[in-house]
Amino acid sequence: MDKLRVMTIFGTRPEAIKMAPLVKELERREGIESLCCVTAQHRQMLDSVLSIFGIVPRFDLDIMEPSQTLSTITSKCLLGLEKVFQEVRPDLVLVHGDTSTTFAGALAAFYQQVAVGHVEAGLRTWDRYSPFPEEMNRSMVGRLAELHFCPTRANRRNLAAEGIEKGVFVTGNTVIDALQTTVAEGFTFAEDVLNTLDYRGKKVILVTCHRRENYGRPMEDIMSALAHIARTHPEAELVYPVHLSPVVQECARRHLEGMENVRLIAPLDVEEMHNLMARSYLVMTDSGGLQEEAPALGKPVLVLRKETERPEAVQAGTVKLAGVEYDAIVSMADELLNDPAAYAEMAHAVNPYGDGRACRRIADAILYHFGRTDRPPEVFEG
Ligand code: UD1
Ligand code: UDP
Repeated sequence: MDKLRVMTIFGTRPEAIKMAPLVKELERREGIESLCCVTAQHRQMLDSVLSIFGIVPRFDLDIMEPSQTLSTITSKCLLGLEKVFQEVRPDLVLVHGDTSTTFAGALAAFYQQVAVGHVEAGLRTWDRYSPFPEEMNRSMVGRLAELHFCPTRANRRNLAAEGIEKGVFVTGNTVIDALQTTVAEGFTFAEDVLNTLDYRGKKVILVTCHRRENYGRPMEDIMSALAHIARTHPEAELVYPVHLSPVVQECARRHLEGMENVRLIAPLDVEEMHNLMARSYLVMTDSGGLQEEAPALGKPVLVLRKETERPEAVQAGTVKLAGVEYDAIVSMADELLNDPAAYAEMAHAVNPYGDGRACRRIADAILYHFGRTDRPPEVFEG
């Protein structure tokens, strides 16, 4: 029997981190020919992940522009992928999450009548403009896909509420698979400043912020709140690897550059990031991926957003929504820095998002769906 041709398509840092262990798993399966295609919606931040995981894509569309718009990303992906599909015709295309690459990848495959599998399916806020454009991207991919790999049972319920019940598998999130390969005792950082931080004597706060719906007023408030926290808590050390988006770079530097206990550094490679997180006191972020990783490492998270599509860790008590307003952000950070009991209540490891076996389940589910095995994949009970 011919091998099943499975093409993974991804383009940004978080997609790459979460797809990399899956690419590796597909490569290990005898019945599968793994074809990796990157759009390079992100260039440097993508390449860093590819090199850590040792992935050499078969196709690279290299689409990134300095101030790209949603339309330029989407149209360049669609046109580039059309050419790729002229060269090879996969049996299945796998896309991840909710970026512009994700939506364009699913749409381009649909135009060729190639089946689509959606990894990290079923996350919803039910607010079409927040996160923007991600909520609409993932809903539209839900309509286009035939296979849906949900991290949790709650994600499956979200799809059921939209009438999507066929081809749905609960697998856990592949980010937990990735996390199990990166965190190490005695890790030495390539970013030397991270080797010199006093992780025991100081309260290291890991910060990231990049979401488009936070551009403008919310990001101004977030950055001034961070500056206030740094000024009023000399016992804290803020470490902030700044996203390469020019909008974020400008705002972060204007508010935080030159402060004694704030380290603005370049984006970290994923191993450095996971190991820094494992050594931090607290995480403040608007990132999706960090909300999943930090709870697994027992680190409290304040989410710099109005809502989250990842309620599981909020329910487990390790993540709190701080919002995007100055006063609320400052007071929630104050509480965690001043009150050991409040801190202890949030600082316990939970793992609602996965057990490190998501990629195995996804590969099993693909083989099962295409009739290559009679054995259904095991279900993640998260
Ligand atoms: C994108 C995703 C977002 C995801 C985020 C992860 C969309 C619409 N948004 O947002 O869902 O959370 O990635 O980080 O798909 N840049 C570089 N080098 C890089 C990466 C980015 O220079 O390696 C700069 C470029 O100037 C680029 C800008 O960042 O134009 C913005 O990148 P873009 O992919 O458009 O948006 P993100 O905010 O990164
Ligand atoms: N990350 C990283 N280096 C950084 C910042 C983030 O490796 O400097 C990782 C992080 O650990 C997580 C992923 O990138 O796995 C999250 O990406 P991002 O916050 O850009 O996007 P989101 O998850 O919000 O879509």
